[in-house]
Amino acid sequence: MKISMASSLKKTDGLFIFLPEKNGKKAFQDLDEVLKKEISDRFAAKDFEGKKGEILQVFPTNVSAKKVLLVGMGKMKDLIDVRKAAGTAIRKAKKLKLDQVSFMIPDNINPKRVISGAILGNYEFKLGDTKERFTPTQITIISTQKLSESELASEIAISESTNFTRDLINLPPNLLTPKLLADHAHKKIEKDVKISVSGNKEIQKLGMGSLFGVGQGSHEESQLIVLEYHGGKESEKPLALVGKGVCFDSGGYNLKPTNHIEDMKSDMSGAATVLGIFQWIAKTKPKKNVIGVIGAVENLVSGNAYKPGDIVTAMNGQTIEITNTDAEGRLVLADCLHYVTTKFKPAQIIDIATLTGACIAALGYEITGIMGNDKTLLDQVKKSAKSCDEQVWELPITDLFREKVKGENSDLLNWTAGVSAGSSMGGAFLEGFVKKTPWVHLDMGGTAFNGKAGNELSPKGATGAMMRTLKGMIE
Ligand code: BES
Ligand code: ZN
Ligand code: ZN
Repeated sequence: MKISMASSLKKTDGLFIFLPEKNGKKAFQDLDEVLKKEISDRFAAKDFEGKKGEILQVFPTNVSAKKVLLVGMGKMKDLIDVRKAAGTAIRKAKKLKLDQVSFMIPDNINPKRVISGAILGNYEFKLGDTKERFTPTQITIISTQKLSESELASEIAISESTNFTRDLINLPPNLLTPKLLADHAHKKIEKDVKISVSGNKEIQKLGMGSLFGVGQGSHEESQLIVLEYHGGKESEKPLALVGKGVCFDSGGYNLKPTNHIEDMKSDMSGAATVLGIFQWIAKTKPKKNVIGVIGAVENLVSGNAYKPGDIVTAMNGQTIEITNTDAEGRLVLADCLHYVTTKFKPAQIIDIATLTGACIAALGYEITGIMGNDKTLLDQVKKSAKSCDEQVWELPITDLFREKVKGENSDLLNWTAGVSAGSSMGGAFLEGFVKKTPWVHLDMGGTAFNGKAGNELSPKGATGAMMRTLKGMIE
């Protein structure tokens, strides 16, 4: 699907006219008279009101388009509605099998939102079935606003990389083992990013007993994936992104029951998000130093699997009693966080993980939980999320939670009965592994994957959440 910009309408298969709910009639002052009248008539007759999700085919004469459709943008209080309108339009274009389409948007709408809405809305997971699919080959955005070549390329890049992230998450767990995840990193991220991968032997040699413990029950080797990009000054300390890459989370001996285990292929969403960001970095080459660290494992049950009661030693020397084999994400991240802190001395660390189901109870499926040890960095992440229509909400890490993660026969427990504030407990556990480095933890337990419902921008399954928020932390 090629995307380009134009200032006026040329011949097209499908013309989609984007109209807001308020002042929809006036949105296009210099449209030709036939179209202006058609829009006005539809509004007057209340056939079309510009509401969110509304789409109406109209039949004006003498227009250089085979089909003309009006697309509602709603009241536009929330700018995500613009993206969603573009998602609605592209899906209609797919359904009607329109090859060349034009999206005509009002003057005050940033074309970037429409471009990303179209690319995200066009997404289908193609690797799981053999259905025939249709995608328009060309979208032309007709707008009075102009985007530079690089702005256009960057918007396309982040949207396509978000779809890459979604593909990784949607892949079934037999086709996305830790090794295969590492292969995708090598194949799909261009050469300006240095990628190194370590297996079980090196993981053990590094002393990562916590990460290793989680993966030891699987026949598939655990993988530590490290990505390095140097776009900034040599002296500049990097930003580190750390991703949870649990390629399947069965819960281990604390086995997940039916209705909780089915979507656990998505437990590598944090890792997929980090890889998506590095793909975008490789394409757009921002002037910043960025390190990525991914702990990729499978949390399974076997004669070799770790057990409740085991005590493991993390890379920082601390011992952890495994009180629940299903609280495995923090064990994987702990070693990755210590590794990146000591090896790369980053200026800031952001980890991203489907860490807790408790986050769904706290914040639902649209809001990502955020915790951290540094107000400046927390504020930066919140600001970045807001500017790109993503939602985050801070959850507390208090001394009570810090006390509760301490063990009796070990330094730490990976789970503590009776506390319930699962997301905060996760945060309190991780906090000790970053020393004093400014750090933010993103718990995308509720936002990474929705197996039950999709929306205009995302079919059921992987959402691609937090890609734009992280991008905003880099550019
Ligand atoms: N991967 C899960 C968290 C999760 C659950 C993400 C549902 C997305 C949807 C994580 O490893 C886990 O099992 N967490 C437990 C922790 C508990 C045992 C302390 C949880 O939150 O239920
Ligand atoms: Zn788990
Ligand atoms: Zn998990």
